[in-house]
Amino acid sequence: MKKLRFAIIGCGRISYKHIEGLINNREEAELVAVCDIDINKAAKRKNDYESSIKDAKVKTYMDYKEMLNKEDIDVVTIATESGYHPQIAIDCMNAKKHVIVEKPMALSTLDADKMIETSHRNNVKLAVCHQNRFNKPIQQLRHAYEEGRFGKLVNGTASIRWNRGMDYYRQAPWRGTWELDGGTLMNQCIHDIDLLQWMMGGEVESVYAQTGTFLRDIEGEDFGSVIIRFKNGAIGMIEGSACVYPKNLEETLSIFGEKGTVVIGGLAVNKIETWRFEDGKDSEDEILKAQEGDPDTVYGFGHTPLFKDVIDAINTGREPLVNGEEGKKGMQIVLAAYKSQKTGMPVKFPMGNFATVDMK
Ligand SMILES: NC(=O)c1ccc[n+]([C@@H]2O[C@H](COP(=O)([O-])OP(=O)(O)OC[C@H]3O[C@@H](n4cnc5c(N)ncnc54)[C@H](O)[C@@H]3O)[C@@H](O)[C@H]2O)c1
Repeated sequence: MKKLRFAIIGCGRISYKHIEGLINNREEAELVAVCDIDINKAAKRKNDYESSIKDAKVKTYMDYKEMLNKEDIDVVTIATESGYHPQIAIDCMNAKKHVIVEKPMALSTLDADKMIETSHRNNVKLAVCHQNRFNKPIQQLRHAYEEGRFGKLVNGTASIRWNRGMDYYRQAPWRGTWELDGGTLMNQCIHDIDLLQWMMGGEVESVYAQTGTFLRDIEGEDFGSVIIRFKNGAIGMIEGSACVYPKNLEETLSIFGEKGTVVIGGLAVNKIETWRFEDGKDSEDEILKAQEGDPDTVYGFGHTPLFKDVIDAINTGREPLVNGEEGKKGMQIVLAAYKSQKTGMPVKFPMGNFATVDMK
């Protein structure tokens, strides 16, 4: 089978994970071009790839439209500032390219809907980088959920107890702004929020939030607490912090049902801490012992299997696991939390249009 030809737009901090995802999927994918308005960053990623893959030739660009015109590309991955994702993704999909876009896919419900509509209209795949869905413990949990092992779901909690100091926010002017990023719920916490909704039935009835900017000099919040009522009656709670002293403590997902309790923690939801089910199909001891170690970065191991999933989806014509509709769900919960903070009221779903810039 022909290898899919990839290009990357945005060669900043996270883009090395895209390079890694392509290197690890080298049998089915090849990188042909990279683009960044800062050509030095593009050149760095070109070198990273070419030094790992024999005979690879990667072109560099500063203008993604020129790249789309000149290169024969099947899939574009987008890792620019979040606020630029929608326009770039829409341009790529209108040029008939499949797209893998970093999280959050957009900063407004309207933009997310436009992206989804554009992917359908052009018959191309749209996937969102919620790579933690591919963490092994999360896959095990999802399997238990799909088998109905929890019985009636009662509640679930996403605890993101992280630290992002001003040195992090000062790295680039877009960080923490309403226009291009949002606060910690939208940037750091969205992964765990996505997982929470994925394990709790996915259909939201209402969202209530209290957020604040306590310690960091940014527009967005550096702490948020959110309560979600799901349509199946279960309640979700989010505790999302960028303020934990003095460094990252944990990212944990806890799911509680009538007949099951699972807690997955570690630095980034990669470690099963509790695994108890009434059905006795497996023992907590065995499950805990069979685990791999916690990865050394909060980004985890997930980009490689996520890229693999998208490649398979393109080759077989199915949807990727985290398609546009799925990618919108966590982002929409965060926007509902923002709207709730702004109005002081719970936000009922369907929530209508809301954008981070409406917080200004
Ligand atoms: N999946 C994850 O775990 C994860 C982790 C970190 C960041 N992210 C997301 O990835 C995105 C990028 O984050 P980052 O930390 O790498 O940011 P960054 O600021 O380090 O990199 C963004 C890059 O995009 C480039 N860029 C901007 N406009 C461009 C354009 N029109 N054409 C080409 N390049 C352009 C910038 O020059 C910059 O190099 C954000 O949306 C962020 O939320 C995801």
